[in-house]
Amino acid sequence: MRAWLLDDFTGLKALRLAEVPDPEPRPEEVVLRLQFAALNPADRYLAEKQYPLRPPLPHILGRDGLGTVIRVGAAVKDIQVGELRMIMRGDTGGTRAGTFAEQVVVPAVELAVPPSGWTATEASGAVLVYLTAHQALTMWGELAPGSVVLVTGASGGVGVATVQLAAAMGHKVIGLSRSPEKRAALELMGCLLALNPEDPAWRGEVKTKAKLRVDLAVDNIGGTLLPEVIDTLAENGRVSLVGRLAGPVPNFNTATLFFRRLRLGGVAVGAPSRQESIAAWAQVVALLQRNNAKPLVDSVFAFDQLLRAFDRLAQGPMGKVLLAVSQTAD
Ligand SMILES: NC(=O)c1ccc[n+]([C@@H]2O[C@H](COP(=O)([O-])OP(=O)(O)OC[C@H]3O[C@@H](n4cnc5c(N)ncnc54)[C@H](OP(=O)(O)O)[C@@H]3O)[C@@H](O)[C@H]2O)c1
Repeated sequence: MRAWLLDDFTGLKALRLAEVPDPEPRPEEVVLRLQFAALNPADRYLAEKQYPLRPPLPHILGRDGLGTVIRVGAAVKDIQVGELRMIMRGDTGGTRAGTFAEQVVVPAVELAVPPSGWTATEASGAVLVYLTAHQALTMWGELAPGSVVLVTGASGGVGVATVQLAAAMGHKVIGLSRSPEKRAALELMGCLLALNPEDPAWRGEVKTKAKLRVDLAVDNIGGTLLPEVIDTLAENGRVSLVGRLAGPVPNFNTATLFFRRLRLGGVAVGAPSRQESIAAWAQVVALLQRNNAKPLVDSVFAFDQLLRAFDRLAQGPMGKVLLAVSQTAD
C-alpha cells in the first residue's frame, strides 16, 4: 500500500509518500481500506516533537478516518468484511500507525459505525473534535441552559463542533474568528455574536453593547488572547483550555482570577476511558440531531496532496480538512 511516512521529528517536511507492506490484523484487530482521513493540528505537533508522544520511526500520522473493512482478526466476531467503520478514539496516529495511508490496522474496539444520515466525509473527521468539544463543554458539570459560552478559534475543527454542541444545549454562543466570511457563517450556525479577536473593541461588544458576561469560555488559541477572554468572564466563570494555536500566554497575572473566583482547566480528549468516550459520542450525535446539525467539511485534498492540506489547516479552515484516500468527496 501507499503511506505517508514521517522519518524524523523535524516537522511536516519530513513526510514522504512511499510503498510499504499491507498491514495484517492481530486476532483482536481489523484492517480498514481508508476512504477519507482527517487532519488535526496534533499531527503537526507530533511531527515537530511538540507532542508528548514519540512513536517508532518511520511513523504514519493521522488520528481520524473512515473506511471499509477488508481484513478481520480471528477473535473479532461482530465486524464483517465490507462494512463501513470510523475510528472512534485510541492510539491510531499517535503511538500506532495512523490514517494517512491506504490501509490502517485498528483494534476492533476502537471502531464505530458512522451515524445514520451522515455522509462519509462528514463522519470521517468528526470523532476527535466533537469529543474534545463535548469534554470542554461538560467538564465543569451541568451548565444551566441559556448560559453564555464564548468559543475562540470558532471556525476551526474544535470551534465549529463547540459552537454546534453549545447551541444544541441551549446556550447563548459567542464565536471569535479573524475572518469576516467565517464570522457570517458562524452566525448562520447559531452564534448570537461572531466577533473579530483582532479588533480591540470585541470585548466592549460583549460587555457593554450586548451586556453579556461569559459563563464558560472554550479556548483554542491561548497567547495574548487568553487574558482578554478572561476579562469577559462572569463571576464563577470558567475556561476550558483546549489549544494554544497562538502559543504560550505571556505575562499572565493570576490576580485576574481572584475576585470573580474564576477557574481554568485543561482538556485532554484522550483522558476519558473508552466507555466514557462511547457515552460522550452518543450524546454528541443526539445533540447534533436535536438541531439538525452535521459536521462541517472545509476542504478535501487528493491523497498525494497531504502537504497542501496541511497548508490549508495552517491558514485557518472553516470546519475539517480531509484527505481523500480512495474516494472522491460526496
Ligand atoms: N486538548 C485536546 O485534547 C485537544 C483536542 C483537539 C484539538 N486540540 C487543539 O485545539 C486547537 C484547535 O484545534 P482545531 O482542530 O480546531 O484547529 P483548526 O481546525 O486549525 O482551527 C483553529 C482556528 O483557530 C484560528 N487560528 C489559528 N491560528 C490562530 C492564531 N495564531 N491566532 C488566532 N486564531 C488562530 C483559525 O480561525 P480564524 O482564521 O477564523 O480566526 C482556525 O480556523 C489546536 O491547538 C489543537 O491542537 C486539543
